[in-house]
Amino acid sequence: MVVNGDARHGAFLKACRREPVPHTPVWFMRQAGRSLPEYLKAREGVAMLEACARPDLIVEITMQPVRRYAVDAAIFFSDIMVPLKAIGVDLEIAPGVGPVIADPIRDAAGAARLRPLVPEDVPYVSEAVRGLVGELRGTPLIGFAGGPFTLASYLIEGGPSKNHDRTKAMMYGEPALWAELMGRLADITIAFLKVQVTAGASAVQVFDSWVGAVAPEDYRASVLPHTSRIFAEIEALGVPRIHFGVGTGELLGLMGEAGADVVGVDWRVPLDEAARRVGPGKALQGNLDPAILFAPWDVVERRAKDVLARGRAAEGHVFNLGHGVLPSTDPDVLARLADLVHEASAR
Ligand code: CP3
Repeated sequence: MVVNGDARHGAFLKACRREPVPHTPVWFMRQAGRSLPEYLKAREGVAMLEACARPDLIVEITMQPVRRYAVDAAIFFSDIMVPLKAIGVDLEIAPGVGPVIADPIRDAAGAARLRPLVPEDVPYVSEAVRGLVGELRGTPLIGFAGGPFTLASYLIEGGPSKNHDRTKAMMYGEPALWAELMGRLADITIAFLKVQVTAGASAVQVFDSWVGAVAPEDYRASVLPHTSRIFAEIEALGVPRIHFGVGTGELLGLMGEAGADVVGVDWRVPLDEAARRVGPGKALQGNLDPAILFAPWDVVERRAKDVLARGRAAEGHVFNLGHGVLPSTDPDVLARLADLVHEASAR
């Protein structure tokens, strides 16, 4: 069965809302990026954060995977660090490394530098979203922002961190400073999501990618209040809200409590078990291991069908990888996977 563009358009938003769908919708985290030769070409000689501030490049790079793959949604090309750069934090995204902060935040004076984001700080985001809504002709655009723990970790550590030791030391040892920092980051995330939805994004995803490093009781005390506030303040905009993190098997119930419509699940917990942990009233997104795409096609097919079968235990299912597309992934395998998801799930 060939799923044409028109038939595809409704499926993603319907699945997020736990409504009946003609087929399981699919998109891929990091579907834009280094796995695509046309992305590498567009980015030649342009630094990551510079690309994120140019509406022409944002539109082009966001559209690239939509042209290649039969995905049911586009994700806005940007980065979780963009709003922080926009309010004046001195940072860069180093190729092969990730975000690097010139002056890490370790005290109250540092936290106080995180002023609120206003739409005028990111005019290129509004302009690019408006351009994309025209180009996408009905394919939903997902806006996104970083979750407060993940942003805090980059700001406190000064860059990528395996153990998040300084971050957790502040969370455990300086609860008032931690709450102040997390509150300011939640405000920035709320404002950044509002800019994207106001300009025309049809859904939002909060990437709290590294929050799986936190134990459940600490998540409840030190992260959940901030994440809950983000989802509560976005609710009035009326678009589906997706909440994703990596290594969050022990947090899935609490992530359900945080208030998003859809909980993103990494590849470690099968979706039927994830549905049990998240509880009723939520859709799930996920969760094929991105590394499976390097195995022979018959393995990819069998594993993707298993994800679809287990996903039926959820009230709504958006097919995705369990984390972002790895840079050396063959785009033809992703193209085939998107088609397989549609064909194997057609109702
Ligand atoms: O297609 C999409 O999914 C949209 C684009 C997107 C990017 N970053 C583009 C990007 C999204 C959703 C993000 C979010 C992001 N950024 C997260 C959360 C998602 C996740 O993967 O968990 C995180 C943790 C970051 C921080 C960040 N930015 C990292 C760790 C890196 C990789 C550094 C590297 O070179 O290995 C980046 C850079 C980045 N963000 C790239 C892209 C396409 C690569 C930049 C390049 O092309 O050099």
